[in-house]
Amino acid sequence: MMGQWVSLSVVIMLLAAFAGCRQANADNEGERLYQAACARCHGTTGEGGAGPAGALSRDLTDPEWQKTVRDDELRTLIQHGRGQMPAFSDALSLDKIDKIVKHLRVLKRSEASDKPGSS
Ligand code: HEC
Repeated sequence: MMGQWVSLSVVIMLLAAFAGCRQANADNEGERLYQAACARCHGTTGEGGAGPAGALSRDLTDPEWQKTVRDDELRTLIQHGRGQMPAFSDALSLDKIDKIVKHLRVLKRSEASDKPGSS
């Protein structure tokens, strides 16, 4: 009898955990779009160096560089591309590009701990 209750509560906990994940993904469209469109060159964390084209790109998590670019400049860059970076204006709506720009700001590593990968 006891065992049944235990497994029932495990099932309920798992269902709750799954529901939580789905929620997080829905809220994080910018991250999903980034992983789908950008990570193959800029890496999953934005530090870059993924593939031959990625090696030509800077570390997108660099806080010093992030200070020098405005959101609208990032949007224009993603729309039109530059050098080896393709244009995304056909593939992604403006709304989606804006979500990716927001995600780039999330990728910025904190200035206090100037260590790559710590966020
Ligand atoms: C095919 C590989 C590739 C893909 C895919 C790609 N990029 Fe790039 N990206 C590059 C390269 C190469 C550069 C450097 C371009 C240059 O300045 O010559 C770059 C530059 C950038 C820069 C500018 C950095 C600077 O120096 O100002 C940003 C921001 C950026 N990419 C964001 C993105 C985002 C966001 C996506 C996804 C929508 C993306 N990239 C997809 C290769 C790529």
